[in-house]
Amino acid sequence: MDKIVIQGGRPLKGEIEISGAKNAALPILAATLLSPGEHRLSRVPQLGDVRTIKRLLEKIGARISEENGVCSVQVGEIENNEAPYTWVKTMRATILVLGPLVARCGEAHVSLPGGCAIGARPIQLHLDGLKKMGAEIEIKHGIIHAKAARLKGANIYFETPTVTGTENLMMAATLAEGTTVLENAACEPEIVDLAQFLNGTGAQILGAGTDRIVINGVQALHGSAYAVMPDRIEAGTFMLASAITKGDLLLKKCRPSDMVSIVEKLRAAGSEIEEGKDSLRVIGGKIRAVDIKTQPYPGLPTDMQAQFMALMSLSDGSSVITETIFEARFTHVAELRRMGAQIRLEGNHAVIKGVAKLSGAPVMATDLRASASLILAGLVAEGETEVLRIYHLDRGYEAIEDKLSKVGASIQRVKGQG
Ligand code: EPZ
Repeated sequence: MDKIVIQGGRPLKGEIEISGAKNAALPILAATLLSPGEHRLSRVPQLGDVRTIKRLLEKIGARISEENGVCSVQVGEIENNEAPYTWVKTMRATILVLGPLVARCGEAHVSLPGGCAIGARPIQLHLDGLKKMGAEIEIKHGIIHAKAARLKGANIYFETPTVTGTENLMMAATLAEGTTVLENAACEPEIVDLAQFLNGTGAQILGAGTDRIVINGVQALHGSAYAVMPDRIEAGTFMLASAITKGDLLLKKCRPSDMVSIVEKLRAAGSEIEEGKDSLRVIGGKIRAVDIKTQPYPGLPTDMQAQFMALMSLSDGSSVITETIFEARFTHVAELRRMGAQIRLEGNHAVIKGVAKLSGAPVMATDLRASASLILAGLVAEGETEVLRIYHLDRGYEAIEDKLSKVGASIQRVKGQG
């Protein structure tokens, strides 16, 4: 396993180009299962999770090729309608092939995702919705067996907003007989991106981005060309890299309109931020203590919580971070403490007392965004930080050490020692 070694204390200065969004690319790639046509996708990020879902799609029957930044995907026919545990344990988002497979070929056998480092992460709402649409669902030996000659439109209410649940059922509904209404749907920008992609293939989806989405089922969908939206969490992570190192970074090819909660919170925490149409300039200043509460979109994303905790570890006072989405998303706390952070946990609250400096240390990545927070801490800590098990990081960040070293960080990947 690789590790990343950082010599802290260098303010970041320069420009970083933001990649396509992991959490839009994954459902869009799953959605290619819905039609036999060719889909030409651009801005698909080169990430661990994207490589995983591409390999699974090929097992299912997709032909995938890449040329000049365009990823061509064509699922002429479904050769295999299974997603076994070996795939799902690598990446929970594999569950996103369930809805499209049932809609396309009437049957799917997908392993039930287990829990993960940040929580139990059940998917019952996905299954309840498919049942409402007429699917027969049986779980045996950890495998979800779902069958439906043709799904029927239904009115589905989510007792809690679920991003991939909304995506799974939105995809399934595109080929259902009749109209499906998703109430209390998740509103994340990645859902809007998926809906725009699907409508480009002939789907009829209205209201994506609101908590009520209406999908009129059609007989068939066709191929398309689409550019994946920029990754708002990658952009947010680099914004905080500039803030924590008191740097001056210009982020290009991002979409500030998706990031209002992150921009406002970081301004309150002392950074100067200039917004362009598809760029953000972040100039770090004195880090001010602010309280943070994660919420469904348009609230502050849970995927930015760990990164903000690294920043608040160096603030001028005390801050409280409240995690409302996942019940165990504080695995980065123990590692930040090893670097000198003063953090106390009380249930789903973390109380952080800012310190003057962090000190470099060997630390362990535990999940994707926790590893990003350790990178941020290492960029500013005194001395050397080693981040181990960075396969977590590679799942969601494209060549992060290259992007950071280009703007002045002393950061390198050491093969096979993590
Ligand atoms: C998506 O996960 C993202 N993953 C996560 O990003 C993100 O943290 C999360 O949404 C919240 O924004 C992808 O898009 C691939 P949820 P998802 O279903 O869909 C509960 C990252 O770092 N729930 O919106 O799995 C659940 O337990 C990853 O890129 C149920 O109770 O999250 C949680 O408390 C991490 N029953 C809440 O809803 C269900 O059936 C939100 O989860 C489904 C969810």
